[in-house]
Amino acid sequence: MSTQPAIWRLDGTSTTLMVVQDHDVPRLFWSGSQLAEDVSVESLLALDDTALAFGTRDKVTPLSLFPQASSSYVASPALSAHRSGKQFAHRLNTQSVDVEGQVLTITLVDKNTEIKIEIILTLHAESDVATMATRLINTAETDLTVDWLAAGTLPVPRHFRECQTQHGRWGLENQTYRRDITLGRIDISNLHGRTSHEHSPSMVLGSTGFCEDSGDVIFSHLAWSGNFSLRVEQLSTNEISLQCGVHYLPGECILKTGEEVSTPAMVFSRGQGMNQCTQRFHRYMRSSVLPEWTRNTRPIHANSWEALYFNHDEEALFSLIDAAAGVGAERFVLDDGWFLHRRTDNAGLGDWYVDETVYPNGLQPIVDRVRQHGMQFGLWFEPEMVNPDSDLYRAHPDWALHVNGIDTPLARNQLVLDVSKEEVSDYLFERITSLVHEYAIDYIKWDQNRDLVLAGDGNSAQAAEQPKALYRLLARILSVCPGLEIESCASGGARIDMAVLEHTGRVWTSDNIDPIERSSIQQGFLRFMPPEIMGAHVGHKTAHLTGRVTSLHTRAIVALQGQFGFELDARRLDPQDVITLQHYTQLYKANRDWLSNATYWQIPTDSPAILASGNVDAEKDKAFFSIVACSNLKASKPGNLRLRGLDPAMNYTVKLESINVADLAPFNAIMPHWCENEVTTTGDLLMKIGVPLPVMPPQSAVLVGCHKELVQ
Ligand code: DGJ
Repeated sequence: MSTQPAIWRLDGTSTTLMVVQDHDVPRLFWSGSQLAEDVSVESLLALDDTALAFGTRDKVTPLSLFPQASSSYVASPALSAHRSGKQFAHRLNTQSVDVEGQVLTITLVDKNTEIKIEIILTLHAESDVATMATRLINTAETDLTVDWLAAGTLPVPRHFRECQTQHGRWGLENQTYRRDITLGRIDISNLHGRTSHEHSPSMVLGSTGFCEDSGDVIFSHLAWSGNFSLRVEQLSTNEISLQCGVHYLPGECILKTGEEVSTPAMVFSRGQGMNQCTQRFHRYMRSSVLPEWTRNTRPIHANSWEALYFNHDEEALFSLIDAAAGVGAERFVLDDGWFLHRRTDNAGLGDWYVDETVYPNGLQPIVDRVRQHGMQFGLWFEPEMVNPDSDLYRAHPDWALHVNGIDTPLARNQLVLDVSKEEVSDYLFERITSLVHEYAIDYIKWDQNRDLVLAGDGNSAQAAEQPKALYRLLARILSVCPGLEIESCASGGARIDMAVLEHTGRVWTSDNIDPIERSSIQQGFLRFMPPEIMGAHVGHKTAHLTGRVTSLHTRAIVALQGQFGFELDARRLDPQDVITLQHYTQLYKANRDWLSNATYWQIPTDSPAILASGNVDAEKDKAFFSIVACSNLKASKPGNLRLRGLDPAMNYTVKLESINVADLAPFNAIMPHWCENEVTTTGDLLMKIGVPLPVMPPQSAVLVGCHKELVQ
């Protein structure tokens, strides 16, 4: 490369990425709002932060896209690798930088340690979301052990002082946490072997006090379903970096001559206020990640799990199917319990044959009953798992991941199959596709209910191979089952990431269907992922995971935030509940198509007890705002909710879409006028002054609709 500084730029709709080469490796000089067309490398470098106090380094080497110790970088390098303990340090230099459309490819070479690196940086113009991924090729005659290879390294502006991440556990996913960025490293490392409940691979960094509407923020996400590390590191120079990549177990990535490894994509965007980045991530997922079928009308699911658990029998299922159809279900999903030996959760996983002791005529009578109602049929699988008490395990104990000499701890009485073994994936492919073809299955709920611990092939670690083998298996199944929809479920929401969602396109967000707890789970999910892929079901009056009793209105309003469905025993609904549920079902059906492409807003409220969000259609003709009182309000007046995303110049009719005004009335000495009689006003006033909320008792919810006033 020439020694003259060089510059490359990628432009989106409202963002610019500027890559500058003035040292050994290019750096991302700017990533943020759009810069003028004529910005030159000289004008950028004139503003370069070059000042340095005594006592540090002799030469300033700014944070590059591939930081390394040879540029005197003393924090997490992009690469940590060696050859049997030798060649631990590298000096990669730029060989070429190529731009093709929106893709910039930087090639780096280290002639001494014989390593080649390609960094691929893409800016998706219409969403303003960028992706970065790195490929490493071992060109030497000896093996290269890779301990860490960053998917990307981003320079973080110094005024970014806060880091927000999402964590959880079974039944309480995606809870939001915030901490200060200060000297040292924040390291979110996931070792669960699946995306996990514990740590989401998504992160928000931002200026002090950033919130939904304001603050300078960076959203980032690692598109990967296995072990990972997200690192934010600040040095005493106050330089801050953000890095993410696969967390390798010891010896897991050893490259022979000519072999290569590619990282998953690091997805990122810098914007003003979290809502802007949320909306960009939703656009990016809709246009570039999710399967095509997610753009189709999203059907209403009825799932058998909480209605029957393992108590399958034909007659019970017939009546459940009839009742689900009666409240408007369009797809019936037969959950866990249909296959050989699966009478409880301690046996059968792996034996993917219909249990004829329960279904003497196979699943055909069930499928026929579902189809008689015009519904689609879905079936539950947990393909990557095996119970020791199964025919499969008895025949092939060596198919389970294990480490010789150490007993693998069971979780939910099960072990994990090594899907990277050809014979394992061939078996799963054959079983799943045979059943899909036999019963013309429309949809699979693909579950995964345990972590990968001691994930070895006997001797060597296999955890990083498992997600790749899963993606290959999913792609292979889909190649022969066109039109099949697959959902990603993992004990609820333990596998929610943009890599698995390329093949799946819907998630079971959580096993917790208590609408109050689910509101914060959904809020965390929706910060990064769009609503139409979020499985959201109306559960039982008494939530099975928490014992909380809630009204049907609250359950339905919270389920309307995503792909609406039922996780309840519809046979036991009383006649009034059936009528109520039918109202919300109709509401979903009438609005789901625009909701699937809507612009989503999270709305800060005056009270921590209230969670509010909204969806506005592309033309700004209609909007739904969902307001949930998670606990009691401290104030005796709830105040106004300032709406978002409307057209200020347009007149809107505002009405209560939920039919629960009678439930709210006893708590309101005075009820806001619009709750009982529609009002019409401008988008400007609705956004500046807001809608006066009714007094909402704990665990209540309201759904507010705004409809463009039709000109007479
Ligand atoms: C965990 C899932 O999250 C549930 O919805 C259900 O499918 C069970 N597994 C079945 O075992």
